[in-house]
Amino acid sequence: MQDKRITLAWTGASGAPYGLRLLECLLAADYHVYLLISSAARVVLATEHGLKLPAGPDAAKLALCKHLNCQTDKLEVCGKEDWFSPVASGSAAPKTMVVCPCSAGTLASVAHGLSDNLLERAADVVMKERGQLLMVVRETPFSTLHLENMLKLSQMGVTIMPAAPGFYHQPQSIEDLVDFMVARILDHLGVEQGLVPRWGYDHR
Ligand SMILES: Cc1cc2nc3c(=O)[nH]c(=O)nc-3n(C[C@H](O)[C@H](O)[C@H](O)COP(=O)(O)O)c2cc1C
Repeated sequence: MQDKRITLAWTGASGAPYGLRLLECLLAADYHVYLLISSAARVVLATEHGLKLPAGPDAAKLALCKHLNCQTDKLEVCGKEDWFSPVASGSAAPKTMVVCPCSAGTLASVAHGLSDNLLERAADVVMKERGQLLMVVRETPFSTLHLENMLKLSQMGVTIMPAAPGFYHQPQSIEDLVDFMVARILDHLGVEQGLVPRWGYDHR
């Protein structure tokens, strides 16, 4: 049976709308989502989307469910040091995790296995269990260190997906650009989506 559980992490890179839209799509696809939110991600979410999440995980979950009009039983917001969360152990964690958006800081921490908070630990668990880890990195330009960290993770089987939307679907809005990235992520996860036209079908 397909495990319809997934870990989604939001970190403090620009691109909060990607993370929010991805969460919306995963919940709509009936996934149980364990959501990890870094402190910096909360700042970026408020700056870019005007959404100020309350401090505690439960209050944050309620605010998100209200914002997205989703069922509360499908979303679990995990605290930064909730070491008893299923995502903290290979014996219980979902096999798939997406870090979207992913900051250069979290990229470095994961590349070096720091596991200093639940978000980093969850990524470490997915890697050690040989699961699927996608990191939607956003920074520009990339330093040599960023590139080295991405190469290191890629060589360990992590999928590095720079937040770099294309323009060939002729986006008319920011939402179209966001959907471009989210569609590519969902494709990698094997989640059915019809957010943007597929290459070769609607462009001839
Ligand atoms: C509005 C805003 C935008 C930011 N954009 C980026 C970014 O695009 N990429 C990045 O690596 N860091 C960015 N930062 C800096 C990170 O948030 C910062 O390095 C933070 O320590 C990352 O912590 P985290 O990885 O635990 O979320 C941004 C910060 C703010 C407040």
